[in-house]
Amino acid sequence: MKYYCALALIFLVIGNSFCLEDDVPSLKEHFAKYFKIGTCVSGGEIVNGNAQHFINHHFNSITPENELKPDAILDQAASQQQGNNVNPIVKIGQQAYYILKFCSENGIPVRGHTLVWHSQTPDWLFREGFNNWGNYVSRDVMNIRLENFIKNTFATIKRDFPNLTLYAYDVCNEVFAGSGGGLRPKGESKWMDIYGDDTYIINAFKFARKYAPQGCKLYINDFNEYMPAKTQNILDEAVKLKNMGIIDGIGMQSHIGSDWPSVQDYQTALTRFIQTGLEVMVTELDMKATDLSLQANKYRDLFQVLVNNNARIPSVTFWGTTDERSWIKGGNPLLFSNYQPKEAYWKVMTVGTNNKEKNLK
Ligand code: XIL
Repeated sequence: MKYYCALALIFLVIGNSFCLEDDVPSLKEHFAKYFKIGTCVSGGEIVNGNAQHFINHHFNSITPENELKPDAILDQAASQQQGNNVNPIVKIGQQAYYILKFCSENGIPVRGHTLVWHSQTPDWLFREGFNNWGNYVSRDVMNIRLENFIKNTFATIKRDFPNLTLYAYDVCNEVFAGSGGGLRPKGESKWMDIYGDDTYIINAFKFARKYAPQGCKLYINDFNEYMPAKTQNILDEAVKLKNMGIIDGIGMQSHIGSDWPSVQDYQTALTRFIQTGLEVMVTELDMKATDLSLQANKYRDLFQVLVNNNARIPSVTFWGTTDERSWIKGGNPLLFSNYQPKEAYWKVMTVGTNNKEKNLK
């Protein structure tokens, strides 16, 4: 008898949580007239049926969290065998496959992340023979590798997922020093070690423009983007690339806290980026917090700023679905916990003109 009661209870809880989820108004529908609402997702999460259901309900943009990074898609053995020292071979791994298949089958457009980055990029990409040892290659050889890497990435995605919509791509990620002060210096970035200036950024954008599918917007993406010195660094480079016609937008990673930066300071950076004439996407939003009411209010205020500027913001992406899955462990950074809405979710849903009362519950 005890056994049956326990079973009944489990079914009740599971059943209810499903019902609850469908009762929760959809983020993507609520903000549909303003911008897409995105999330990053891992290959591990996307194979889970409940997660799929949740993601389909709330999001209309997906960024693979790690699965399209250079260390995930570059194949060293194949590059050594077939690369002729200049052609890095790209493969879509199993985890990326799960994500892109889900996006393709469900018609969810993808933000690609990322091509040129100092991190999560294998050292062998920069060495003679694609080996783990020996000399680094010259700038000329690296240029050919860079072009082939970008060409192969877009070609491989197209070949494996012909129906996938790749609507934006982070061509360069975090090329500036942490909190301002110009380009990430030698010693911190192999790209900088080899090039010594921003030529690798310019070339990456030129190649991306040449090989990216039509409609895929090309982005420069960075963090601490709301710190004035860093804002200026990003602006200067972005305007330079814009004058060459090879960039479409600036990605604001937006890893923030409930205490810092202020929404006002964030807005200042956003406005300056928009004034360049480029688009802006919020690419990796999360907010560390201990006081969840403070967090909720700040999320609301931030969304009000984003909605006010929606004409130049095609998408707003959270860096994760639910707190337990976030890269920020124990920081309560997202709108959901255990896939259930937090106070922050309900506050965000008061922004915009849709059915305010209904959404407030
Ligand atoms: C993070 C992932 O979320 C983690 O799983 C991984 O261990 C490290 O990278 N800026 C970025 C993202 O551009 O790629 C990072 O993602 C978070 C910071």
